[in-house]
Amino acid sequence: MRKRLFSGIQPNGSIHLGNYLGAIRNWVNLQDEDDCLFCIVDLHAITIDRNPEVLRKEIRETAGILLACGIDPEKSTLFVQSNVCAHSEMTWIINCFTPFGWLNRMTQFKEKSKDHQKDVSVGLFDYPVLMASDILLYKTDLVAVGEDQKQHLEFTRNIAQRINSIYGDMFVIPEPLIPNNGARIMGLHDPTRKMSKSEAGKYHAINMLDPPEEIRYKIMRAQTDSDRRISFDRARSGIFNLITIYECLSGSTREEIEKSFNGMGYEEFKEELSVLISETLKPIQARYRKIMENPDDIDVILIDGADRASAMAGPVLFEFKDRIGLW
Ligand code: TYM
Repeated sequence: MRKRLFSGIQPNGSIHLGNYLGAIRNWVNLQDEDDCLFCIVDLHAITIDRNPEVLRKEIRETAGILLACGIDPEKSTLFVQSNVCAHSEMTWIINCFTPFGWLNRMTQFKEKSKDHQKDVSVGLFDYPVLMASDILLYKTDLVAVGEDQKQHLEFTRNIAQRINSIYGDMFVIPEPLIPNNGARIMGLHDPTRKMSKSEAGKYHAINMLDPPEEIRYKIMRAQTDSDRRISFDRARSGIFNLITIYECLSGSTREEIEKSFNGMGYEEFKEELSVLISETLKPIQARYRKIMENPDDIDVILIDGADRASAMAGPVLFEFKDRIGLW
């Protein structure tokens, strides 16, 4: 039986190779197996950035990238979170069932509030509740994400169980779907930190729209070590990250990769990796440019997606309100 799969992505900043390997690439593959919803989570994005022109532009660009990567609106529902108002309403209700201490334990909140000390909003604190609402509104079976979202998923499961224990089987308890390879791609200039949209540093991330010369420039400067063996050795985090990216994109096994680079230096390996990344991104970038020639077509897809999503979310919200006694 087809399962209901939900996932989301923030529209802020450039979508990077970590997003692609940890999430988007798997979404594309899962479309044939599952009943998929993919959500551009603009309400999550405003927990940090609130520039209207930039946000509007980035929502479209994010949709363009998802479509260019192979999200097919004929197979999946692609929509913008704020276009389905049930997400906000559900968030308020779930807030009322959420113990303060549960949110206080969220590591992503702690990290983000350190990075944005001057602007720590209640919205940022409440981020996981909005995420739980996204998921629970669609009676989701599977949530396809990278490793960094694990704790938020655990929170979602806990809150669903808590509500079910009061009102009977209201929500499906969702399972995380985290890829074996590529679930945590690290930054290039600092491989101890995850590749991220918000991370400062010019050489930190490979963006999906980077041209080949920029990809090469960043990869050649990526941090490695003085050991010079090209192997899957977690203790050497820089080379481990680069060889993991190679593994994800080449489809070769670890043994094959280590064998083929045996005796080679980091520089040669980095040259090959740059070419592999550029060749992978080239067709996506070409499709993206074509898609962006007609932004109105993107809007049509997103509006249709929001209609379909609203039709699914509405009855679930109605049922939940009814069980609680809200009119
Ligand atoms: P976001 O926008 O930060 O990231 C989108 C997806 O990309 C994955 N990802 C990574 N995977 C591997 N390596 C990395 N360095 C890396 N960085 C990001 C993320 O795990 C994610 O799957 N809170 C979510 C968005 C969201 C959501 C949801 C997801 C909102 N509601 C409901 C699932 C279900 C987020 O900020 O993703």
